[in-house]
Amino acid sequence: MRVLIIFGTRPEAIKLAPVIRELGKRSEFDPRVCVTAQHREMLDQVLQLFEIRPDFDLGIMRPDQSLFEVTERALAALEGVLEAERPELVLVQGDTTTAFVGALAGFYRKIRVGHIEAGLRSHDKFAPFPEEMNRRLADELSDLLFAPTEGAKANLLREGFPEERIFVTGNTVIDALLWTVERLESPEAQARLVRRFAELGLDLEGKRLILVTAHRRESFGRLGEICHALRLIAEHNRDVELVYPVHLNPQVQGPVWRALEGTDRVRLLEPLDYESFVWLMSRAYLILTDSGGIQEEAPSLGKPVLVMRERTERPEALAAGTAKLVGVGRERIFQEAQRLLDEPAEYAKMARAVNPFGDGHAAERIVSILKEQLR
Ligand code: UD1
Ligand code: UDP
Repeated sequence: MRVLIIFGTRPEAIKLAPVIRELGKRSEFDPRVCVTAQHREMLDQVLQLFEIRPDFDLGIMRPDQSLFEVTERALAALEGVLEAERPELVLVQGDTTTAFVGALAGFYRKIRVGHIEAGLRSHDKFAPFPEEMNRRLADELSDLLFAPTEGAKANLLREGFPEERIFVTGNTVIDALLWTVERLESPEAQARLVRRFAELGLDLEGKRLILVTAHRRESFGRLGEICHALRLIAEHNRDVELVYPVHLNPQVQGPVWRALEGTDRVRLLEPLDYESFVWLMSRAYLILTDSGGIQEEAPSLGKPVLVMRERTERPEALAAGTAKLVGVGRERIFQEAQRLLDEPAEYAKMARAVNPFGDGHAAERIVSILKEQLR
């Protein structure tokens, strides 16, 4: 069975790596990997770690690309790949423009489409933007819907998708996370990390680490507020180190470096390879983020997350009490972080390891379902 896996960005690569590995183990599948390379450096970091060698690399990324450009270039380039490959199934993941366009390309060629991480909803077309619509459109174009949670399945059922096309599998990000956590335990990995962090000059001895990421398009124009909140946290707490690997989008790099460069106790970094990032998550006292994937990973590591967004399509971590939605205003972000730094009881309530998003076996389930469904 020829399956073409299409992806383009860092989070898709992380979440598809376990699926690609699982497909590779089963002799009945002939998996081919096509990267649009909507991301370049941030994608390559993941391909290298998981030893994925794409069969097709469409190389579409341009500096400061618009949504129109990404859509147009990915769609045009995929036509030739589908023509040459004629797979029985196209697999896409998540809510990026590559995921939506990959599903659309499959549909145009009348090839069956499987969508991993289907059914998440914020119910607000513009938040997250454009991800809410990318995901809804990919769902609509897909034949097999792999919902990570019961909540995601319920969303799909409410929208009228037939139950026999929906499969609850857990989120493959937990597979990738647990694989990486295990790898980190080896002496070789420990030595690698010590070297890497020494090179970066990052010394966390005796410090409470606050790990930060923020990159969403709906936050553009509000990144100044977020950075202001980070500055307040750094000013009010002598025992913290805020570490922020800054996303390579120029719309993020510019405002963040301008606002925070040289601030005491704030360390801006280039995007980290996944292994280093997971290690930092596991060392963190607290995580501040607007990322989708990190909202899913942090509960499994028992780390409290303050979600710097107005809405989330991942309510499971909020319900479990390990994440809190704090918006993008400076005062609220600062106060909520300060509460967790000052009040051990509040901190303990959120710092519990729970796994609302998966158990580390999502990829096995997905591949077994594919085998059943493609027979
Ligand atoms: C994209 C996804 C978003 C996802 C995020 C994960 C869309 C529309 N957006 O947003 O859903 O949460 O990836 O990180 O699908 N760049 C580089 N090197 C890289 C990656 C990006 O230089 O490796 C720069 C380029 O200038 C590029 C810009 O970032 O033009 C924007 O990249 P793009 O993929 O369009 O948007 P993201 O903000 O990364
Ligand atoms: N991540 C990483 N290096 C970093 C920051 C994040 O490897 O410097 C990982 C993180 O653990 C998560 C994924 O990248 O698995 C999230 O990607 P991103 O924030 O780019 O996208 P989103 O999840 O918001 O779509």
